[in-house]
Amino acid sequence: MPDPDDRPRPAPTARSLKDGGTVEPVREILWGENAGVRKYETAEELPADMRRLIVKLMVVQADTEFASIQQHRPWLDRAPTLEDRWIESRIIADEARHGLQACRILRDFGEEGQRYIDELLTKREGEHKLDAFNLPFDRWSDVGAFTCFVDRVGVYQLRAFQECSYGPLARAMPLMLSEEQLHLNFGASVLRRMVQDGPRYLGDRDEAQASVRKWYPRALDMFGHSQSETSRRAIAWGLKRWTNEEARDRYIAEVTKLVASLGLELPPPEFDRRVL
Ligand SMILES: [Fe+2]
Ligand SMILES: [Fe+2]
Repeated sequence: MPDPDDRPRPAPTARSLKDGGTVEPVREILWGENAGVRKYETAEELPADMRRLIVKLMVVQADTEFASIQQHRPWLDRAPTLEDRWIESRIIADEARHGLQACRILRDFGEEGQRYIDELLTKREGEHKLDAFNLPFDRWSDVGAFTCFVDRVGVYQLRAFQECSYGPLARAMPLMLSEEQLHLNFGASVLRRMVQDGPRYLGDRDEAQASVRKWYPRALDMFGHSQSETSRRAIAWGLKRWTNEEARDRYIAEVTKLVASLGLELPPPEFDRRVL
């Protein structure tokens, strides 16, 4: 799979290989208005606007993690094979850990952060912030297409935070990214098996195709509005690497190739969209 992060970036000047090949964390802001200045390491030192945005981003992040646990849960003992059930249980454990990690970042924001955490823990199915996380997984193809398309957007969002200007957030990325990679590879494999093996596995090509049309538009919506001023500010603050539109375009290029290799077809990017 092509790495969406092939754009030239400033050299990580503070990075050095220590004895035994360990990589020292990057201490400086790598892009945006404050490139070269030391990263923010505590919630207290963040400028007010940036603080507000980080809190908002972490609330959405944690909300998606907890929501996907609710979506996957019914398939723990309904997935077609034992291996699939084991991977479902692993995905649920990973998403719980990601939610915890986002909440730990929120905890650093004191009472305000804790209020959000308390609220997040009360959210039921259908009450989440993004549409993709309010749709139940009625069929096994929903699990395949969701992990293939929606988790893949999650990877783009996490990559956008990699080595960002808020140290605690930047350091949470590597493990989350490696776990998400398993989820989206699993999703593609579920769809591939449906197309190739049909009812001998579960479902068939038509069901897989319908799931692509159901989830791809919701995945594209997750990148947010194209003319978002917030996404531009996030880049200027060294928090995110790409605008919503840039990230969405890269994603479309990647999944276009992937879906063709599965023997399936993508609808046009404008199809069934709610966030433009
Ligand atoms: Fe996750
Ligand atoms: Fe995931």
